[in-house]
Amino acid sequence: MCGIVGYTGSLAAAPFLIEGLRKLEYRGYDSAGVAINGEGGLQVVRRKGKVAALAQSVKSMDLNGTCGIGHTRWATHGKPSEVNAHPHTSCDGKIAVVHNGIIENFAELREKLEDAGHTFASATDTEVIAHLVEEAYMGDLLSAVRTATERIHGAYGLAVTCENEPGVIIVTRKDSPIVVGQGETGAYVASDMIAVLEYTRDIVVMADGQFAKLTPAGVEFFDMYGKPVQPEITHIDWDVDTAEKGGYPDFMLKEIHEQPRVIRDTLAGRMVGGHLSIDELDMTTEELNLIERVTIIACGTSYHAGLVAQKLIEHWARIPTTVSVASEFRYDDPIITPTTLVVAVSQSGETADTLAAIRDARVKGAKVFGITNVIGSPVARESDGVIYTKANKEIAVASTKSFLGQVVSLTLLAMLLAQAKGRMRSNEIRALFRQLAETAQQVEEILSDTTAIDEAAVACKDAASALFIGRGMGAATSYEGALKLKEISYLHAEAYAAGEMKHGPIALISDGFPVIAIATKGPVYDKVVSNLQEARARGAKIVVVATEGDEDIKAHADHVIYIPKVNDYFIPITASVPLQLFARAIALLRGCDVDQPRNLAKSVTVE
Ligand code: F6R
Repeated sequence: MCGIVGYTGSLAAAPFLIEGLRKLEYRGYDSAGVAINGEGGLQVVRRKGKVAALAQSVKSMDLNGTCGIGHTRWATHGKPSEVNAHPHTSCDGKIAVVHNGIIENFAELREKLEDAGHTFASATDTEVIAHLVEEAYMGDLLSAVRTATERIHGAYGLAVTCENEPGVIIVTRKDSPIVVGQGETGAYVASDMIAVLEYTRDIVVMADGQFAKLTPAGVEFFDMYGKPVQPEITHIDWDVDTAEKGGYPDFMLKEIHEQPRVIRDTLAGRMVGGHLSIDELDMTTEELNLIERVTIIACGTSYHAGLVAQKLIEHWARIPTTVSVASEFRYDDPIITPTTLVVAVSQSGETADTLAAIRDARVKGAKVFGITNVIGSPVARESDGVIYTKANKEIAVASTKSFLGQVVSLTLLAMLLAQAKGRMRSNEIRALFRQLAETAQQVEEILSDTTAIDEAAVACKDAASALFIGRGMGAATSYEGALKLKEISYLHAEAYAAGEMKHGPIALISDGFPVIAIATKGPVYDKVVSNLQEARARGAKIVVVATEGDEDIKAHADHVIYIPKVNDYFIPITASVPLQLFARAIALLRGCDVDQPRNLAKSVTVE
C-alpha cells in the first residue's frame, strides 16, 4: 500500500512528483503530499483525498525546488486526514520522510521519543522515522537514516530528505518495493517503475537492506554497513503507454481489452519442437517427476486462479493439489515436505501474506515457484523459480488481465507437470496447446459485442445482492465473477458450486433475485440446467453465460450471454471476460469509480 516518489536533478521537482503520484495512485488514494527541498528550505504540502486535490493546491503555489519527495496513502495507522498524510517531518521541520509499509514497534519508539522531548503531530507509525532520523542526524543524512532503520521493525520503503543537504534524497527498503533510476536530467525513486519509465529504462530494483543516495550528479548504492555496492541494473522495454488509458474511458476497460494480447504473450515461445518448456523454472523433467504434491498459495483473485489450477493439475498430472489462502496457510499446519511443490501466485509480487507463506514453505524444505506480474518483486526474488505473467502493468485495482495471465501460466504449469509425469502424450499436449492459443481469438470475439452483457447489467443493477453459480470449471469461474462484482460495484455477491444451492443459499432467492450462472456445454451442463430450474421456480432472475448455438438454454434464462465453444478446461479463461464486463457495467450504472474502488489498494503489503 502507499506509493512513494522522489526526484533530484536540474528540473523543477513538483511536476514529476505529481505525475508520478498519479501513476502510483492505484497503491492508495486517501491522501497525498509532497516535500520540496529547495532554496527556501523544506516546503511540505499535504491534502486529504486523491492526488488531484494535491495537484490543485500545488498548482497555485510557488514550489520551484529541484529536489523533492512525494507520497500517496492507503491508511493503516491513523485515519485518512491531512495531518496523517505524508511527508512527515521532524520537530525542527528540517527532515521529511515518506514511507510505504508498517513500523511494527512504532508505539514503543514513539513513547521513547516523546520521553526524549519529541513532539508528534500525527497518529501514524511513519512519524517515528522522522524523529529517529532527527535524533541520529550529525550532518550526514545517509548515516542518520542507517542508524534510524536499525531501530525499526517491520516493512518499509523510505525516502528521506533534509533541509541541511539540499539536493540529497536517501532511500532504503525492507519488504516494500523501491526502484531507483538515473535519467538525463536527474535521479528518480519510486515504489513502482511505472512512475519513472518515461525518464529512464535502466532500473535498479533495490534489495532489502540496501541504501541509495540520490543527488543531481547521480546515484550511489550502499549495503547496510555503509559499504558502496554495485547494483544490478534491469533494462525495461515495456510500452510506456501502459500507464495511460489509450483512448479507453477507464483503465479497467483498457486492461480487459488487453487480454487477447496477454494470452498470446504468455504462450509465446513455450512450445519448442513439439515439447512444452518453461525454462525459468530451472527444473529438469526428472526433478518435476519427483513432485508428489502441489500446494498453491495466494490471495483474492490470485487464489481463484489457484482454484482453476488445482482442477487442471489433478486432472492432467494426477498430482494431489491443495489451494490455500495465504493468510490462513501461514497459521495452519500444512503438510509440506521436500517433494511438495509450492506455487505462490501474486500479481503484485508483494502481498505480505503470500510472502510470509513462501518463507514458511521454504523453511519446511519445499521448492517454491512464483507466478507474478512484477519483475524483481519480492515473490520473484524469494522463489526458486518464477514465471512472469505477461500482463504488463495493471493499474485498475480490480485484477482482470493479470487473472487471465495467471490462469494461462498455471495451465502451462499443469501441462508441464503432466508431460513430466508421462500422463499426457506429446500429441495430446500439442492439441491442448493449440486450443489454449485459440482462446485469444475467442476472447476477442467476446469483446467485440457486449450488447447482451450490458442488457443483463441494466436488469441487475438495482439488486441488493446476487448469487453466482457454476460447477466444475464453472464453479472456479463464478467465484471470480462474484468478487469482481462486489469489489467494484459494492453490490453484495456470493458464489457457490451450483450443487450447493439446495444446502442453504437457495433460501436467499425470491422474486427478481439475480442468479448468474456459468452454463456452458460440457460434462456438467445438464446438472447446471437443473440448478437453474430450481432457482427459476423460486422467482430468480437468471443470467447465463452459455455456449454459442445453445438455443435450448433460452428456456431457462432471462438473459443469455453467449461465448464461443471452448475445451471445458479453458472455460475460466473465456467465461471470466463477460463477468468482468458485467461487473464493470453494473459499477458504472451505480456511479462507482471502477478503477479505484473504495477501501482497496492494488497491493496489500500489510498482514
Ligand atoms: C481483486 C484483486 C485482489 C488481489 C489480491 C492479491 O480484483 O485484485 O483480490 O488478487 O489482493 O493480490 P496479489 O495477486 O498482488 O498478491
